[in-house]
Amino acid sequence: MTKIAILGFGVVGSGTAEVLTENKALIEERLGSSYEIRYILDLRDFPDSPFADRVVHDFNIILNDPEVSVVAEMMGGSHPAYDFTKACLEAGKHVVTSNKEVVSTFGVELCRIAKEHGVRYLFEASVGGGIPVIRPMINDLSSNKINKISGILNGTTNYILTSMRDQGASFSDALTEAQKLGYAEANPSADVDGIDAARKIVILAALACGKLADPKTIPTEGITAITLTDTKMAQAFGYSVKLVGHAKVSEDGKLTAFVSPRMVPACNPLSRIDGVFNGILVDANMVGEVMFYGPGAGKLPTASAVVADIIDIIANRDKATKPILWEAAAVSDMADFADYTCRRLFLLKDGGSLPSALEKAELRRIDGTVGALTEAMTETEASALAESVKDMLLSVYRVLD
Ligand code: HSE
Repeated sequence: MTKIAILGFGVVGSGTAEVLTENKALIEERLGSSYEIRYILDLRDFPDSPFADRVVHDFNIILNDPEVSVVAEMMGGSHPAYDFTKACLEAGKHVVTSNKEVVSTFGVELCRIAKEHGVRYLFEASVGGGIPVIRPMINDLSSNKINKISGILNGTTNYILTSMRDQGASFSDALTEAQKLGYAEANPSADVDGIDAARKIVILAALACGKLADPKTIPTEGITAITLTDTKMAQAFGYSVKLVGHAKVSEDGKLTAFVSPRMVPACNPLSRIDGVFNGILVDANMVGEVMFYGPGAGKLPTASAVVADIIDIIANRDKATKPILWEAAAVSDMADFADYTCRRLFLLKDGGSLPSALEKAELRRIDGTVGALTEAMTETEASALAESVKDMLLSVYRVLD
């Protein structure tokens, strides 16, 4: 009998209890062994919940119970989630989590501590909600060198952008709806400012190259400046505006990782990923391109991934499993972002004459705005061009080539 503790009884924590309960017979039959939810840690009481008798407020009850061998951390935020995770791993308890903030910030240390204590730290639910992507990248792509990852990694922003494009919804109405549906972070700035996607892309990049970049230092732009005119202009060019996390490992092993809104051409499968769905396109040297697709946020999809990790731990508890081990990415491991090259779509106020630098650009006009699609250029060249047209410039988008 495996005894499980759940830390945090919010959207994902309560979903995890629901999945473990609803599918108990099926999971136990597959495992050939039984489990129980022994504790649920939360600051609140849940008198009307079927799990009310399992709720505790003192973490030490869980830490000091030797019978609890698997802990599912779904508290969100760095502290005390990181501190509790570390304590559990050091006490010889396996930990699974959906907490991308903790994995992306403390993953190097926590994976090392897990290895040192002969336990596992698994985080399938930290990227892509319910989509199986971490385990397939570790296991099923292990014969490949991963060159590039492009992902729609945040369900809330994809939901907002899809509602703006398809229903002409305002940004704030679409965000309120995403919050109601349980997709958004407690502080939605993490979603709309691209911070959540930055955490996820550094985790995926670490799976690709073994180096975990600091999510706070990679270039990160969100979606708050995107207007309805921008989404219409995108459509005029046959593009969709998507918030994309991008990671690239160059021939010499240098890592580029960043998050920004991108103009995604209709021929790219990411252009058709709408609503709360996420899609992760991985370019690997043997298999070519593979895509992972599914619900990127939400209670039961995310809980499904959390429980998959719990099942993995129970099923393999008597076997030696290969630990995940990363190094912190040093500045010298990172490519110079100034050299990143792609086409750009400049949106300018219509009326004045276009500068000569944009003479060769493909043009479209909408709502008093002119869109100018350029050839591929570096970040440095794009900044110089933006400076030269600053009086008429509304925005600049990178194209996902
Ligand atoms: N707020 C996140 C999202 C939840 O919208 O994708 C899943 O990580």
